[in-house]
Amino acid sequence: FITRKIPEPGPSILKKYFQVNMNPEANVLDRQVLIKKVKNADAILCMLGDKIDSRVMDAAGPKLRVISCYSVGYDHVDIKEAEKRKIIVTNTPDVLANTTADLTFSLILSAARNIVNADCHVRNGNWKFGWTPDLFLGYDVYGSTLGVIGLGEIGSLVAKRAKGFGMNVLYYSNSRNRKIESELSISYVSLEELLQRSDFVSIHVSLNKSSFHMIDESKIKLMKKTAFLINTSRGKVINEQHLIKALRDKKIAGAGLDVYEDEPISTSNPLIQMQQTVLLPHIGSATYKTRAKMAEVSANNIVNSLIGKGTVYKIR
Ligand code: DGY
Repeated sequence: FITRKIPEPGPSILKKYFQVNMNPEANVLDRQVLIKKVKNADAILCMLGDKIDSRVMDAAGPKLRVISCYSVGYDHVDIKEAEKRKIIVTNTPDVLANTTADLTFSLILSAARNIVNADCHVRNGNWKFGWTPDLFLGYDVYGSTLGVIGLGEIGSLVAKRAKGFGMNVLYYSNSRNRKIESELSISYVSLEELLQRSDFVSIHVSLNKSSFHMIDESKIKLMKKTAFLINTSRGKVINEQHLIKALRDKKIAGAGLDVYEDEPISTSNPLIQMQQTVLLPHIGSATYKTRAKMAEVSANNIVNSLIGKGTVYKIR
């Protein structure tokens, strides 16, 4: 069962071997509908918005052998519950890392240089005086310091891009990676030092118990008043209420966000009213090529788990 419409070649790969039931809509399935639809499935191919917990696993029944995530993140799946039931959980690493790193960089540039506000200014007919000495002054990206939190695939690729922009790069990660440090000339520092020294702080950790709200008031307090917080990982890594307060009180210069504590964010979320934020609708991996690749990998994860011999990107 595929919970939402995914691009080719995903459906075709699966149809070669299995009876495939795909929700034809792009919308998230209502939970009750999801619970009904997964009945008797051998495999569920799911998205970030689907909460796959014991209730869904129970509803699928004892045939369920694979939960394939159409994403690299898997915080929407109760992994412990799946392990208990010997259900394989898979994801789509590698294929989306460069695409997400590109998007991260576009948030850095957009936030620093007022790209979205300036675009609106032109479109709304407010550009009255031609070239102006103080119109949309922003912050330099070249020559500034980037702090990367989490030096996994995406974090490393963001660091690589930053070096191309002439940035000084610091990183903090659970484990130190001396190879990448020397390849890219980047420095390992504590989280506190990273927050104090960086002009842009970019988050690239997965969401789990220890990363939940890892960026809260006490951490934001350490950042420079002129710094920007960038997040393309998971919204819950940041305490959003604390971020909103810090932005209101001008404790930091701005934020570029692709992810939020609750998605989609409500139109009453104060972040929306702020000029110093750039807000995207969770599109880190959204290119034609990458979404097709994710469809291929997530479909092959099912085929190879159930009948094939090829690679299965298993979680744990
Ligand atoms: C992921 O894969 O986890 C991203 O958030 C969406 O592609």
